[in-house]
Amino acid sequence: MDINKIQYQLNTQYIGKKILYFERIDSTNNFLKNLEKHNYTDGLVVIAEEQFKGRGRYNRIWYTQPKKNLTFSILLTSQNLNFEITPLPIITASAICIAIENITNIHINTKWPNDLVLNNKKLGGILIETSFDNELLKLIIGIGINVNQTHFDKEIEYTATSLYLETGKEYDRESLLSQILNSLDKMYNKLIYNDYSYYIDDWKKRCNHFGKSITFDYNGKKYKGVALGLSDNGCLIVNSNNQEMKILSGEIIINNEG
Ligand code: BTN
Repeated sequence: MDINKIQYQLNTQYIGKKILYFERIDSTNNFLKNLEKHNYTDGLVVIAEEQFKGRGRYNRIWYTQPKKNLTFSILLTSQNLNFEITPLPIITASAICIAIENITNIHINTKWPNDLVLNNKKLGGILIETSFDNELLKLIIGIGINVNQTHFDKEIEYTATSLYLETGKEYDRESLLSQILNSLDKMYNKLIYNDYSYYIDDWKKRCNHFGKSITFDYNGKKYKGVALGLSDNGCLIVNSNNQEMKILSGEIIINNEG
């Protein structure tokens, strides 16, 4: 990937002023996790062509074909602790969908909390890791998007997809990445003023599992219910056994029964 080409198309205030590029690294999220404090740069972007310990949510392995996709992480460090981080997965997903759609004209769906979905298959995922370092909030936003991947391992070939597999076209990864960074920067600029309702609304329009039967975890137990909607700060509202519940984080499975 040509980093200059990415930087040239950036139009950001925070994100991507500094970009680090690796041909091969364990995981871009790990890199930022282990970064020493004196090296922190707000908006630092770490890109890898290949990860040998790429991680998904719940410590799953995130494997992608080298040089075909987008695998990168963004470091956000802020002294401003006044903004809400609960909606971050939702609004990050929305900002990414908006960017992909702008550049490819493909409509992307969302699955709660932060999966990107195309034709009912997973196109990408987001792994957000948060920590506090005294007064400093450290957010690591890891993003994996399947762009030009041509095939997937047997275990996920029916549930994962790429832009290439759905359209038969290859996409320019540098342009896609710069548009995603531009879009995330815009979102971050709004988030710090807690002004993110636009993204919540956008996410809702993209979600295609409202009204459907789902299985979800709540306080360590599995429940079945119907996904009703999204709260203003990004919690999933579910009806389970005639009781309305708000789920803050976790994972859902959409049941086949409709
Ligand atoms: C998921 O859906 O489970 C989240 C996947 C996140 C993958 C990205 S790829 C870049 C960054 N580095 C990692 O090790 N994981 C994230």
